[in-house]
Amino acid sequence: MSKPFVYGTAVFGENFTDREAETKRLKMNFEAGVNTILISPRRTGKTSLVYHAVEQITDPSVKVVMMDIYDCRDEYEFYERFASAVLKGMTTKAEQAMALAKSFLSRLSPKISISPEPSQEFSVSLGIGPKTEKPEEILDLPERIAQKRNLNIVVCIDEFQQVGEFPDSLNFQKKVRGVWQLQKKVSYCLFGSKKHMMDRLFQDRAKPFYHFGDMFFLGTIPREEWVKYIVQRFGTRNMTISEEIAGRLCDKVESYSSYVQQLAWNVMIETEGVVTEQNLESGYELLIRQTSALFVRQLANLTVYQMNYLKALDAGLHTGFASSNILEEYRLGSKSNIARIENVLISKELIEKKEDGVYFADPVFAFWFHREYCK
Ligand SMILES: Nc1ncnc2c1ncn2[C@@H]1O[C@H](COP(=O)(O)OP(=O)(O)OP(=O)(O)O)[C@@H](O)[C@H]1O
Ligand SMILES: [Mg+2]
Repeated sequence: MSKPFVYGTAVFGENFTDREAETKRLKMNFEAGVNTILISPRRTGKTSLVYHAVEQITDPSVKVVMMDIYDCRDEYEFYERFASAVLKGMTTKAEQAMALAKSFLSRLSPKISISPEPSQEFSVSLGIGPKTEKPEEILDLPERIAQKRNLNIVVCIDEFQQVGEFPDSLNFQKKVRGVWQLQKKVSYCLFGSKKHMMDRLFQDRAKPFYHFGDMFFLGTIPREEWVKYIVQRFGTRNMTISEEIAGRLCDKVESYSSYVQQLAWNVMIETEGVVTEQNLESGYELLIRQTSALFVRQLANLTVYQMNYLKALDAGLHTGFASSNILEEYRLGSKSNIARIENVLISKELIEKKEDGVYFADPVFAFWFHREYCK
């Protein structure tokens, strides 16, 4: 039996809901070879959406390569991950991957180890470093394979914001863009959270990846879609939740994808038969307990000024932090301090800037912060 609610990992099948327009757009980009950049706050559903769209591809000439670079610390780790993901994306057989590596990356001595677990794939190690194959050749690997085999390849790179952290990142970005933009049979889907970092890569005219592709921001799943989903999932366990309570469940977490599923699961645990108001409240309290340790850690190294800024936000302020009465009332230091405070809080993903002002990035954090520090 599939789980009624899933959170913390990408979701598939019955646990995936809505996103029809976004799925269609991604699928069309994939099949037409259009580069895509997908940005959203954390745990909104990027990874799930990309996998979902990949499943919908019907054109047999399109091959997809998936990679995640969350732990790559420099360009060489990136090339290693890139080349091995491309090889793995082309075949499920270790010997074939080895043969491909030998014919396309002739200067390397690739090693392929087969995992003892039958369910797991083989792993590829290429030993790429500053003195081995030229980066440009590795970056061109998918194009060379695609040309040779008459395929179209889509390379999906998760947590792409990580490249902004590489040493000498700008040069790396120039190199990558220089190679990728000439490729005819390969397109890229670059996605990640940490909006401020993704914005720095893709929204700045002076940067190599500016205007690299179709850029879209993934918002929340609409409330009515969540309500349908929640009601249906409770139904699979012979439980009932009214549309009204399901709607309020969404409102409590502002329809934030992973929290909706986590809270719904908490509520299900609390419920016998029919969901009551009380079950919703207990489920929410459980959610606060589950998340509070993380929130405590997020606040650990904040300065008094940064804490005071969060308190001002909690009091309902969204703009005008640098005006003298606000600086004084909330003890925020000097006017020039504000930009610094905001930069730190944005990089810690505690706040986000929207068109009309600054907001807490996470609705559950906002609730918890209010309860702990503002009463
Ligand atoms: N389409 C969806 N339908 C139902 N639930 C979803 C959907 N998309 C995301 N979720 C919920 O959000 C959670 C996070 O999804 P996912 O890992 O795809 O997001 P992400 O944006 O890639 O997150 P991260 O920022 O951690 O990489 C899932 O575990 C699930 O609970
Ligand atoms: Mg993800």
